[in-house]
Amino acid sequence: MTDDTLESVLTEQRLFEVPDQFAKQARISGMDQYFEMMKHAVEDYEGFWAEQARAEISWEIPFSEILDESNPPFYKWFSDGRLNVSYNCIDRHIEAGNGQRNAILWEGEPGDQRSLTYNELLDEVARLGNALKAYGVGKGDRVVIYMPMVPEAVAAMQACARIGAIHSVVFGGFSAEALKDRIEDATAKVVISADGGLRSGKTIPLKANVDQALEEGCDSVEHVVVLQRAENAIDWTEGRDVWFRDIMARESGDCPPEPVEAEHPLFILYTSGSTGKPKGVVHSSAGYLLGAAATMKWVFDIRPESDVFWCTADVGWITGHTYIAYGPTAVGATQVMYEGGPMYPEPDRLWAVAERTRTTVFYTAPTAIRALMKQGEEWPAKHDLSALRLLGSVGEPINPEAWMWYYRVIGGERCPIVDTWWQTETGAHMIAPLPGATALKPGSCTHPLPGIMADVVDEAGNSIDRAEDKGGLLIIRRPWPSMLRNVWGNEQRFIKTYWSYFPDQYLYLAGDSASRDADGYFWILGRMDDVINVSGHRMGTMEIESALVSHEKVAEAAVVGRPDEVKGNAIHAFVILKGSRGDQDLDHLRDDLRGHVAEKIGPIAKPDDIRFADGLPKTRSGKIMRRLLRAIASGEEITQDISTLEDESVIRQLQGKD
Ligand code: PRX
Repeated sequence: MTDDTLESVLTEQRLFEVPDQFAKQARISGMDQYFEMMKHAVEDYEGFWAEQARAEISWEIPFSEILDESNPPFYKWFSDGRLNVSYNCIDRHIEAGNGQRNAILWEGEPGDQRSLTYNELLDEVARLGNALKAYGVGKGDRVVIYMPMVPEAVAAMQACARIGAIHSVVFGGFSAEALKDRIEDATAKVVISADGGLRSGKTIPLKANVDQALEEGCDSVEHVVVLQRAENAIDWTEGRDVWFRDIMARESGDCPPEPVEAEHPLFILYTSGSTGKPKGVVHSSAGYLLGAAATMKWVFDIRPESDVFWCTADVGWITGHTYIAYGPTAVGATQVMYEGGPMYPEPDRLWAVAERTRTTVFYTAPTAIRALMKQGEEWPAKHDLSALRLLGSVGEPINPEAWMWYYRVIGGERCPIVDTWWQTETGAHMIAPLPGATALKPGSCTHPLPGIMADVVDEAGNSIDRAEDKGGLLIIRRPWPSMLRNVWGNEQRFIKTYWSYFPDQYLYLAGDSASRDADGYFWILGRMDDVINVSGHRMGTMEIESALVSHEKVAEAAVVGRPDEVKGNAIHAFVILKGSRGDQDLDHLRDDLRGHVAEKIGPIAKPDDIRFADGLPKTRSGKIMRRLLRAIASGEEITQDISTLEDESVIRQLQGKD
């Protein structure tokens, strides 16, 4: 957090009251109702959540235990209850007579369209569930899903949930090597993929990446299910590879949902942290589903019978899990799903889809808003966006300028904006406006949701008084139902990352710094660890450093984020070569290193800038001075005391002056 950020945050005065029209019909229509709910949660925390869990989830066996805190930080929720998540997301809506309602209105990048009713979604999910069972996948087995943004990706996730298998979705933009690490860590039995994915006019060779990953290891994988999507030529391994449509034609559409324990893991999702290897965040079945369903209602104010919801995230990220695969279906809503790039073929693609589908609730990331804003108002102006009634933002702090553009140009000054703070680990929204109740301040995610005990604290875990005007650590004081349960195969890392910062107290450490203004509004200031947010994607700087040093010519590397107008952060790498810099064609090597990182992690991790030097600035005790590197990367004047530096001349090199 820079002092400038804090300064601008604390001087933001604009307040946007809830439009009367919106408040009148909202599910939560006033702060009184919010305070009432929060009061209930404070006075009877377990009672509050039990009530929500009974209201939102159809249980196969009702729970009697609510929160089990006997073995912190391994909390359990509703643990003697049983349920099936896919039953909750599909069958119960059909039983309620809504089988003909559209679940998914899909549009492919080339313009092809497909819609699936809840009945049709069930048929797809059931056939796929049966196919997985035929391949020996049972309760607790892992399935990796590496697919484009197609309805079959949602069906694959739901099919796993239906039979009690644990899915691990890997974002299609990750490389073969990153895929391999994830398959191996989860020891998956089956991989579900596609011949290719279409994005921004390019074909992503998904199947080729799976082949490469499996060539180099992944011995646990017995079958690869391949969806034909991109008309892309692929290699085929007889006996291992099967076509998605072949097995769908072969299997029956009758696959009874397998009831599982509330705490049964629903999925693993890998996310970057401060150390080199991404960690597999494990989510539960009931608690996670509750978070997804409740926030669809509280934050998105969703009316399943009339709303058309659209979350533009990819299913490879947590946002696509909670607000595509599970949240909208849990509440029986209709949602839009779009396969391709937001600017393809022209910068009005999203607005064209929103117009065609009469989207009412639209949820995207600040990086997309900034990129679209740059293209000019004429693009949204071509389309009728009058069906929109609510807008959402996620993934990084939204700067007031982008907020105002979103509010004015996209929302026509009539749609509230819900700026939702949450994380892969939290499973669902944690701090966000209730659109019918909360007056908005551009750039603030406003207040914690009912039942979420978020706080801003000092190093000792004491709340920072609002009047103090200073930032602190964002924490959650009490376990909540949709929280992560573990790091897959690595309990120690779970404890160390999230629960060890404050000795003798179990406070969940989010890893963000935040401040609260005099009105109690939360402002997220940024990460306090070595994680950077690039176009809304969470990247570990150490992960990129490891990729760089695995190149034969690199001796040492340090990666930092540099503020970028559109992406939030750009990736800036400082590289020390083996041997002398003078002997190298540095432009060529720069390209080579960028390609190398793309191969190790994926194109999203490619450094935007690479600077070479003879050394990195270190303290006498050998620690890399990251704050100094961040200042250099941003072109800021250097105000830090560098007298402890071993060699001051490296600074000039790192600034690109020598
Ligand atoms: O730094 C916060 C930022 O994104 C991080 C979580 O990243 P990830 O697990 O990939 O999940 C992103 C989507 C939920 C957080 O630690 N972040 C997320 N939402 C916001 C945000 N920062 C500010 N405002 C937000 N609304």
